[in-house]
Amino acid sequence: MSAVYASIPSTPRFSEQSATPDSSFEIRQLAAPLGAEVLDLNLDRSLSDEGFARISQAFSDHHVLVFRKQDITPAQHVQFSRRFGPLQIHVLRQFQLPGHEEILQISNIRENGKPIGLGDAGAFWHSDLSYKAVPSLGSLLHARELPDTGGDTHFANMHLAWETLPASLQKILLPLRAEHTYIKRYEEQRAKAPWRPALTQAQLDEVKPVVHPVVTTHPDNGRKTLFVNEHFTSRIVGLPQDESDDLLQQLFAHSIRPEFIYTHKWQEDDMVFWDNRSVIHLAGGTPDDQRRRLNRTTVEGTVPV
Ligand code: SIN
Repeated sequence: MSAVYASIPSTPRFSEQSATPDSSFEIRQLAAPLGAEVLDLNLDRSLSDEGFARISQAFSDHHVLVFRKQDITPAQHVQFSRRFGPLQIHVLRQFQLPGHEEILQISNIRENGKPIGLGDAGAFWHSDLSYKAVPSLGSLLHARELPDTGGDTHFANMHLAWETLPASLQKILLPLRAEHTYIKRYEEQRAKAPWRPALTQAQLDEVKPVVHPVVTTHPDNGRKTLFVNEHFTSRIVGLPQDESDDLLQQLFAHSIRPEFIYTHKWQEDDMVFWDNRSVIHLAGGTPDDQRRRLNRTTVEGTVPV
């Protein structure tokens, strides 16, 4: 693939600021291939229809929105998330925030010897819940306790990944479909993190493998996107396993070229909303002696086409 990549043009850098006409809050594009900050907006109260329309448009345009300084409650987090659609309940119910089944705790903290959350969530590049027949529209992750070092989250723009593939490869990929499965790396993760619970039969039944197109069209912005990820995509349907593995490896490597990536360095009370239909993400990792705790909601999307 490297010879092919040599002909791919490099991604432009962005630095433009988009001022808002009615400016009760500001949306400022990040100097990265995706992402924007939302400033001077408190999510502790309900957003006007006009404000919601601006946020929705910015989400469609920038794929990752960083809402700064959100000292809000879990109930307010859930309420804001619900504006975008029904919320999905994660299969590992052990790690729900008590009293809020819609919130998955992402945390390396142990209380009374037991993990309170998924400490190794996002250890491989992925799109949340791509293993569901109806995957996620987006996820909202709210920082509650941050480490002094580490704990970054990386996001890769899958529209750019698709658009920079050679036309000959795009033509091959367009009709293909791929299997996604939650258990692809589950045992590998358990071997490294034995605190991960063994899945019950009921949990396994909830996450049976599904098949999605390799190339999807974003329902809001109409752009095509590469919809495969190393965490959950297990094979290309109809190809011998070795060919499927080769092709997927090639696509996984291409998807995370540095020019497609924004790295989020968390600040206190950040709420980050990302589009699982157009980005994949990776948790950069936290040193063992540092505490990290974030709350995540996941909004249901539509069947990918
Ligand atoms: C996730 O994959 O949802 C978690 C990302 C993170 O912890 O940075």
